[in-house]
Amino acid sequence: MKKLKLALIGAGQRGTDVYGRYALEYDPDLEFVAVAEPVAERRARFAGQHDLPPDAQYASWEPLLSQPRLADAVIIATQDNQHVAPALAALEAGYDVLLEKPMATTLEDCTALVRAAERSGRLLQICHVLRYTDFFRAVHDVVQSGRLGDVVTYEHRENVAYYHMAHSFVRGNWRRADQSSPMILAKSCHDLDLIYWILGERVTRLSSVGTLRHFRADQAPRPDVPARCTDGCPVEASCPFSAPGIYLDYRPWRPMAREMGLPENYDLSQVLEWPMSTLANGDLRRESIRRALEEGPYGRCVYRCDNDVVDNQIVTMQTEAGTTISFFMHGHSHEEGRTLRIDGTRATLFGEFMLLRQEIRIHDHLTGAVEVIRPEVRLGAHGGGDQGLMAAFLATLRGGGQAPLTDARAALESHLLAFAAEQARVEGTVIDMEAYRATALGG
Ligand SMILES: NC(=O)c1ccc[n+]([C@@H]2O[C@H](COP(=O)([O-])OP(=O)(O)OC[C@H]3O[C@@H](n4cnc5c(N)ncnc54)[C@H](O)[C@@H]3O)[C@@H](O)[C@H]2O)c1
Repeated sequence: MKKLKLALIGAGQRGTDVYGRYALEYDPDLEFVAVAEPVAERRARFAGQHDLPPDAQYASWEPLLSQPRLADAVIIATQDNQHVAPALAALEAGYDVLLEKPMATTLEDCTALVRAAERSGRLLQICHVLRYTDFFRAVHDVVQSGRLGDVVTYEHRENVAYYHMAHSFVRGNWRRADQSSPMILAKSCHDLDLIYWILGERVTRLSSVGTLRHFRADQAPRPDVPARCTDGCPVEASCPFSAPGIYLDYRPWRPMAREMGLPENYDLSQVLEWPMSTLANGDLRRESIRRALEEGPYGRCVYRCDNDVVDNQIVTMQTEAGTTISFFMHGHSHEEGRTLRIDGTRATLFGEFMLLRQEIRIHDHLTGAVEVIRPEVRLGAHGGGDQGLMAAFLATLRGGGQAPLTDARAALESHLLAFAAEQARVEGTVIDMEAYRATALGG
């Protein structure tokens, strides 16, 4: 295969564990030749894994991108509100770019990115990884084949597991809309993108309701719960959100381990990295995790955090063809996964996309026949989506791939829907999407 060189901007969880690892495990003809990362420990870890000399390590993206072009493409995996400046600079410097989602945290910045990419003639691909899974590709192909007839209604649920909600959206990086983005963008731009792609229809009307129902001070089980789980909390043992329970005892994953047939006392640190890997820069030793719980954000009581993003939201939509859609997003699921039901004039499709189970069932109205599709389950990595995305990006760079599925223009629609949903939720309005789109995109 054609050899490719990449530079990484942001050697955090995604940069190191997903994109860096892909080069090490899946593509011997892929080489990282530079990294930009301000946290010295993370920079050194990435440099060590990829044999990067000191002069290929940068403390920020600016000096890396001001060098003469040193790679075929750049991957940008900084935090949500740090995507735009390096992406614009990388396009300007002549790089093709793989950019994490959401591409930006304001609609103006999203459109600026799309325009800059189109002006530059470079590829700006957004990491909507779920389009690259076998499961969602199969759902897309069934709907687009016409097998369901005309789709009349689509119900899509994003069931975020309670421990994932607590980790990312209560204690972690995406807990505040002003520091990252509203949850409907940060978490659900994937799902809004899938709905748009699967149906192939644009939304014309949209409304939304949603609240932060649970993770608030007034919902604490007792008024005297301390600021940290490790500060002698009186209800720690009976709290599903206990930080030691999640990060040291792996409680949320015990049912899954049982389902996989692992012994009751199996050491799950052997097979699970996320979210433990985010606590101490990838150091998974018990003493490092314990210290992180005592000192860092992930040991905080979920009722004593400074979070403000919702833990449940519903978006209702109608498309140009008259199809109605309800999208549910919530952070109180027993397990992580998406469930969906699509009813057409000739058949009904049910889908279940969970960590250990994936199944699509199609019930034909005329014959009563039921077809079951069971895509192969791949643990972690978004059900194979992370690898699929990288493979597609690299194939395009090598000149042999199909047109990219999730370039910035294609990804823009889901971001538009997310911003509109947030506006509808906050203002209690119904949004005319044609007018919204025309204003946002300038006609
Ligand atoms: N595609 C997906 O399914 C998916 C899943 C999870 C997260 N994400 C997105 O990926 C992005 C990264 O998430 P993460 O969990 O890896 O975050 P992270 O915080 O672990 O990593 C971001 C890294 O960027 C570094 N950084 C900050 N300023 C920088 C600068 N000036 N130059 C270079 N690097 C800089 C930070 O130090 C940090 O190490 C986010 O936008 C997130 O929303 C996408």
